[in-house]
Amino acid sequence: MTTRESVSLASLTTFRIGGPAAYVVDCESESDVRDAIAFAREHALPFVVLGGGSNVLAPDDGYAGVVIRPHLTRLSFDERDDGVLAIAEAGVPWDAFVREACMRSLWGVENLAGIPGSVGAAPIQNIGAYGAEVAETVEWVEVLDPETGDVTRVSNADCAFGYRDSRFKRNPGTIILRVAFLLKKDGAPRIGYADLARAQEQGTPLTTPSEIAAAVRAIRAKKFPDLSHEGTAGSFFKNPHITAEAFAALKERYPELPGFPSGALVKVPLAWILDRVLNLRGFTHGNARLYEAQPLVLATTFGARAEEVRALAALVNARVKETTGIELEWEVRELA
Ligand code: EPU
Repeated sequence: MTTRESVSLASLTTFRIGGPAAYVVDCESESDVRDAIAFAREHALPFVVLGGGSNVLAPDDGYAGVVIRPHLTRLSFDERDDGVLAIAEAGVPWDAFVREACMRSLWGVENLAGIPGSVGAAPIQNIGAYGAEVAETVEWVEVLDPETGDVTRVSNADCAFGYRDSRFKRNPGTIILRVAFLLKKDGAPRIGYADLARAQEQGTPLTTPSEIAAAVRAIRAKKFPDLSHEGTAGSFFKNPHITAEAFAALKERYPELPGFPSGALVKVPLAWILDRVLNLRGFTHGNARLYEAQPLVLATTFGARAEEVRALAALVNARVKETTGIELEWEVRELA
């Protein structure tokens, strides 16, 4: 366990934004995590858990508390009758886990290749991409209750997974230690998503988990900023879910607007509205802008401030609202 004082949050988040955290505690084990909580209590400070920092906007004036970073990295694969149970600790980098699963020819997470962040963060916002969501493979999530010190396993059904949502997102105090995934030895490629279907038409082989993961990484490379040159947290807003009536009304005005049924609602691709209705690709405010290749993604130049991101988001929200009546929700989380 390493405890550091006054650490820039910009150095711990992929947005590269954020003032100093009073303390950052890097934890190598479950007992380190318990000690870090005790440390926060002793100093009468609040704490937050930070994984890869890839979906977080940290405040410009920093965080007057303890940032706990779990680096628990064990990973195991156990054969079962119904597949292979992979148990990954919270600090395993998500994409390292995907690579390992694909190398073993296991199905279930190949469409989620290339997503930054850690395994522990994956269930929080139920990461999803290219027609898959992590909720489809999660068997259980092991959590530490900071109040009681108890460790419990939350079954998939109790995780309350939704679109970019889970019970963990609504209870930021929960600390995820491990996640179990049920992967399959016999699976089938899921290549219905437009970008993957296009890759297949163009001759990309998509028959094994590794081939699909490689194709997904290639698609993502064209849509997301290079983290070594710019800051980003991926999609900044959620795709809106609107009523069938609201969708029909928009479709009258924009006949080509795509829509995907989602329960009783219709999910509308915000990138389409930002691009085709509002022409906002590359829309810039200070050091923050909507990424040219994918306007749902917000990119920042190094040195950007959270205030600039918030201001850009508010401008975008206002434009979308006045044109379509849709109120946007952030997909990115605020650190505190
Ligand atoms: N589109 C445009 N113009 C553009 C880009 C896209 O019109 O410049 C339209 C296209 O019609 C496209 C649609 O917008 O079909 C949707 O775009 P895309 O397929 O790139 O996906 P998305 O809905 O914008 C979601 C996730 C991403 C995930 C991709 C791929 C959310 C908030 N975002 O984006 O997840 O990688 O699908 O499955 O649901 C993330 O959560 O951070 C994230 C990156």
